[in-house]
Amino acid sequence: MPTAIIMGITGQDGSYLAELLLSKGYKVVGVARRASTVTYERIEHLLDKISVVQGDLTDQGSLIALLEEHKPTEVYNLAAQSFVPTSWNQPALTGDVTALGVTRLLEAIRYVDPKIRFYQASSSEMFGKVLEVPQRETTPFYPRSPYGVAKVYGHYITVNYRESFNLFAVSGILFNHESPRRGLEFVTRKISDAVAKIKLGLARELRLGNLESQRDWGFAGDYVDAMWRMLQQDQPDNFVIGTGQTHSVQEFCEIAFGRVGLDYKDHVIVDERYYRPAEVDLLISDSSKAGKILGWEPQVEFKQLVEMMVDSDLKRLSAKVA
Ligand code: NAP
Ligand code: GDD
Repeated sequence: MPTAIIMGITGQDGSYLAELLLSKGYKVVGVARRASTVTYERIEHLLDKISVVQGDLTDQGSLIALLEEHKPTEVYNLAAQSFVPTSWNQPALTGDVTALGVTRLLEAIRYVDPKIRFYQASSSEMFGKVLEVPQRETTPFYPRSPYGVAKVYGHYITVNYRESFNLFAVSGILFNHESPRRGLEFVTRKISDAVAKIKLGLARELRLGNLESQRDWGFAGDYVDAMWRMLQQDQPDNFVIGTGQTHSVQEFCEIAFGRVGLDYKDHVIVDERYYRPAEVDLLISDSSKAGKILGWEPQVEFKQLVEMMVDSDLKRLSAKVA
């Protein structure tokens, strides 16, 4: 039975990846940082099937100890300070975790067992002020936030350790992916949660930033499958993963409110507080390389994704008010 370590097990992607690896017969060890309260909401249904251990990307010793104890064949680094607005308020922390954390993990692999296969969660935010549309593996980067800058570092240190030390280290350049388990501050989940609250009479308005922002949004469950496929190849490489379609925040609102018979114009208020110091441009993926080499294609379409999220929040909140 192969063992996989998932850094960031308590996050959105960690929970979906754990489900996928369990279904493939892996022993799954999830790493969570110590908190004063339990943060296992997304993995509660998996706790009798996986081990959850403590570790932190800012602590080199904890990473070495983890690898020595659990002897994984694969390590997935999904851990990061992942919220773009926070990266302007906490840029040094974002750099320490999201950038240098990758080096600490790669160093631990190099020291403990260089045969371990490594996945780095890179991001379409690296393309930022885009230099080519659509974006592919060869598109130059132009990050527009401290988060994007940190992810560029994480990407290149992964490539560098592959080339310098012959590690099997891959970088998955993933475009936005969402789900009912998405964090509440990200725009898609903020909208689906508010739609459910407004429908149930628990709220009246939703304050958002730039409604014209566009993203290439896919379903997280599809994207973790691409991560696993990248680690099963003969050679380590970089892959862009996305749907190849882009939609605006306004379109997301139209479908989400429409799902429960409401008009977003009656409830959404544009609030400058949610505008960003710098925005990314037209993010659209070209994941044809992943289609050809990994045999990966997205399965869930945009409308289906929006409706899945609204339905899930409506169900969750209806149970609470009942
Ligand atoms: P998420 O829900 O924010 O999860 C991030 C995880 O990182 C959480 O488990 C968090 O733990 C953990 N973490 C934060 N700081 C840590 C530290 N110092 N040490 C150890 N763990 C730490 O993010 P996600 O949406 O699942 O995304 C997974 C990864 O893919 C992230 O690296 C993200 O930047 C990247 N990415 C995401 C997308 C997307 O659209 N979702 C697209 C491209 C790339 P707590 O629960 O304790 O906070
Ligand atoms: N969060 C948020 N809140 N975003 C808003 C709001 C709001 O009230 N109103 C408009 N937006 C716009 C933002 O300006 C941005 O253009 C877009 O909605 C998406 O914002 P987020 O959902 O916060 O995601 P993100 O694209 O900045 O970052 C996510 O995707 C990246 C991949 O490109 C995160 O998951 C990153 O970790 C990931 O790397």
